[in-house]
Amino acid sequence: MSEITIFGARPLFGNITPSGSKNAALPIIFAALAVSGVSVLYDLPDITDVRVALDIISDFGAKIERDGRRVTLDTRNVAYKKPDKKLTSRIRASSYLIGACLSRFGEFDLSEVGGCNFCNRPLDMHLYAAEKLGTKIEGERLSASRLSGADIKFNKISVGATINALIMASRAKGVTRIFGAAREPHVKNVIRYLRAAGAEICDSADALTVKGSILSGAEVKIIPDMIEAGTFLLLGPLTGGMVSVDIPKDAGLESFFEVLSDSGISISRNENIVSAWGEPFKKIRVSTSPHPGFPTDLQPQTAPLMARYHGGEIIENVWQDRFSYLNSLSAFGIKSDKIVGGRRINPSRIGAAECEAPDLRGGAAAVLSALVAEGKSKIKNTELIMRGYADIWAKLRSLGARIE
Ligand code: EPZ
Repeated sequence: MSEITIFGARPLFGNITPSGSKNAALPIIFAALAVSGVSVLYDLPDITDVRVALDIISDFGAKIERDGRRVTLDTRNVAYKKPDKKLTSRIRASSYLIGACLSRFGEFDLSEVGGCNFCNRPLDMHLYAAEKLGTKIEGERLSASRLSGADIKFNKISVGATINALIMASRAKGVTRIFGAAREPHVKNVIRYLRAAGAEICDSADALTVKGSILSGAEVKIIPDMIEAGTFLLLGPLTGGMVSVDIPKDAGLESFFEVLSDSGISISRNENIVSAWGEPFKKIRVSTSPHPGFPTDLQPQTAPLMARYHGGEIIENVWQDRFSYLNSLSAFGIKSDKIVGGRRINPSRIGAAECEAPDLRGGAAAVLSALVAEGKSKIKNTELIMRGYADIWAKLRSLGARIE
């Protein structure tokens, strides 16, 4: 178990360029398995989850060449094999093997998926999409002699199920319409890759319409990580400093900016550079929802900001139980109460503490708490944080943080 020591209560100043988005990079790596050819991915982040995803596809025979942030995936000579549970159980994104393997090999054996276990994370919508496109499901065995286009009607919004449906539909015979699809910027990044690989995908208000095709290798640039950008932006107001991030207008952070500026925090944009500083003058209210709503993956990191100033409320509409991280934050003195649909975060004196990172975003929230607390804090289990934040310690040091 690796750990870091943080000496907090130092105002942080500076500019960060976020790495490539984890939640775009992972599905694109698996989508490349559905494609027969050589794909080039630019700005692939160097994080643990990405390394595991690359290991998983190389287990099927994909050849991988890494040259800094540019990675070449050659999936011309791949063959099906039962996925290795030791690898698939390490990341949630291994669920994208459902779409990739059914499209490419016509078969898949459901394998244990991993990822942040902040609550129950079902796969029923992924399997519903596979079944709609002609997959036979017998226990853990999935098979499809040829996927065929169909109407898929999701009754709730799922990033993962939308992406799996897109991967399958891109190689299926005929036309698929996906109703109730997720539209997160990372879903759009996957669409750009599949289009470049040969799929015809039309995004209209009510559905994603996909005309399947033979897919060949393609180039794609991974978008900057919106969650990393948001996490770093919080550091300005949180530490009494000012942090800027380089993030385009369509990054999907509008509702995040709105919540911060409604509370009195200053947010400015100059071209792609967004800066945040100043103190909130009232309670911060967060209510998460799929894009274009407030991202669930940024709610744990807002808790220390609420606690430091006038408190706040978090209503979680995507992962109802995503609050176990508050046990770790209580070590820093952050107090919270259960309310209908979420938690109230009370104004609290944040003090130095030792804790274990509970999961990726909860771990980031612990780091933010330690950066506010006076004195020496220790955070253990930092592997979980490195699953999703590339070069996090170096980036924090560049802003003036003291981290050992
Ligand atoms: C993706 O998870 C992200 N992970 C998560 O990021 C993120 O929190 C989530 O989308 C929501 O934005 C990756 O991209 C690897 P969902 P995913 O399917 O696809 C329900 C992070 O910290 N649901 O959109 O697994 C589900 O229970 C992580 O970076 C079903 O009911 O999430 C949830 O309530 C953690 N049945 C809602 O949909 C299903 O078959 C949204 O989940 C699938 C989902």
